[in-house]
Amino acid sequence: MITTTPDLSAPVLTLDGPSGVGKGTTALLLAEHLAWQVLDSGAIYRLLAYAAKAQHIRLDDEAALAALIPKLSVRFVPLFDQHTVAVYWAGEDISAQVRSRNTGEWASQVAVWPQVRHALLAWQRQFQQQPGLIADGRDMGTMVFPCAKVKIFLTAQPEERAKRRYKQLKEKGIDANMPAILQELNLRDARDQNRQVAPLLPAEDALVIDTSNLSVSDVVSVILAHKKNKRI
Ligand code: C5P
Repeated sequence: MITTTPDLSAPVLTLDGPSGVGKGTTALLLAEHLAWQVLDSGAIYRLLAYAAKAQHIRLDDEAALAALIPKLSVRFVPLFDQHTVAVYWAGEDISAQVRSRNTGEWASQVAVWPQVRHALLAWQRQFQQQPGLIADGRDMGTMVFPCAKVKIFLTAQPEERAKRRYKQLKEKGIDANMPAILQELNLRDARDQNRQVAPLLPAEDALVIDTSNLSVSDVVSVILAHKKNKRI
C-alpha cells in the first residue's frame, strides 16, 4: 500500500539479521531514543502471508501474491512500551495473528518470490521520512536502502536466539517448546539464506555485532556509538 513519497534526505539506519536475534526490540528502542520512524519489514511479509491465507491464495502462487500487495489496506502503529509494532488490516488489530509462529513460517515462504520482493520495495521505501528511519529486516542494508548512512547486522548463536524466542513467547503466555523453536529457526534461517533474491547477508559496509553475550541495552549503546562515529 503506497500512500506517500519517501524523503530521500532523511537518514536511514538499517538493522538486519536472522530470526530471533532481537532486531525488533532493538529497533523500537532506537526509534524511541532518537524519535525516528520505524519500519518492521518482517510485519509486511507476515501480513502478506496472512492475507493470502485468508483469501485462499497459495503461498507458491507468485503472481497472485504480487497482485494482492496493492490491495492491502494496512496501518502499522509502533508500541514503544511493548517494543513491537501493532498491525491493523482493514481497521482490525491482527497483531497476534500476524506475530504467530505459523505466520512467521508462511512469511518466509512468500518472501522467496522475486515478484513479491520487487512489489514490496516501494512500499518499504516510503517509510524513509524525517527526522530519520530505523529499518528492521533481512535485506534493508543490501536491497531496500543500499544508500543508508548506518548499517548494522546482528547475529547470535541459534541456541541463544531460540532461548530468547522461547522467553518472549512464555512472557506472552504462549505455549512453547525449545526443540521445536530451534528447528523452526534453523528452517527459516536456511530458507532466508539460500533464496535466489535478496538472501540474508550483511551488507559489505555493515557493522556486524554478535549479540550472543550482550544485553539489548548493550546492543543499543554499541549502535548509538557507531552512529555517532559516522557523524549521523
Ligand atoms: O522478522 P520476521 O520474523 O517478522 O520476518 C518473517 C519472515 O519474513 C522472515 O523469516 C523472512 O523470510 C521474511 N523477511 C524477508 N525480508 C525482510 C523481512 C522479513 O525476507 N526484510
